[in-house]
Amino acid sequence: MIIAIDGPAAAGKGTLARRIAAALNLPYLDTGLLYRAVGRRVLDVGADPANPEAATAAAKSLTPTDLARTDLRGGPADKAASQVASIPGVRAALLEFQRHFGTANGAVLDGRDIGTIIFPDADVKLFVTASLQARARRRHAELLGRGDDVTLEAVQADLAARDEADANRKAAPLVAAADAMLLDTTAWDADAAFAQAMALIKARTK
Ligand code: CDP
Repeated sequence: MIIAIDGPAAAGKGTLARRIAAALNLPYLDTGLLYRAVGRRVLDVGADPANPEAATAAAKSLTPTDLARTDLRGGPADKAASQVASIPGVRAALLEFQRHFGTANGAVLDGRDIGTIIFPDADVKLFVTASLQARARRRHAELLGRGDDVTLEAVQADLAARDEADANRKAAPLVAAADAMLLDTTAWDADAAFAQAMALIKARTK
């Protein structure tokens, strides 16, 4: 079974996807990490993440070690990930890995284009959203918990800029698949979002 979970930044896709994967005993892939690792590699060599040649070369030479790095989250990594993600060569280089990951035993994958491009025939598609304010509050708490010294206003501005770039790019823009089920988690905590998602999955797969 393939479960595709898409949505804007900090909507709680990762937490939700991890819990669904554990409950259904499926492998889980956080596809945002792939773009984050590519962005990091480009920054490491001093190149511009918006440069198609540099970013595509980094995507083609990605290794599992890159995905295990501990510096893939936070301001510069977030921005670089979003920049490399708009480059078609980068997306093409990462496509096969994502499809292969899910094909053997099924999987839960979260990202922006899982239900539209990577697995258009996924068994279940969830589009997880929340208001910009709710997402900014959650990401702000997460960053403070990690020891990052950022203001709520700065986090909200970053999320808004990234959503805008992700939704308006030509290559695999952030959009809900026509057959995706919408999950607005603005008023829910992680437990409520998980319960609602499991109910939708059961209804769709019974
Ligand atoms: O955790 P958060 O929602 O902030 O971001 P993420 O899911 O780790 O994704 C980081 C960036 O990678 C996003 O802003 C997108 O530009 C890009 N991305 C994408 O284009 N396609 C995916 N399937 C996953 C992430």
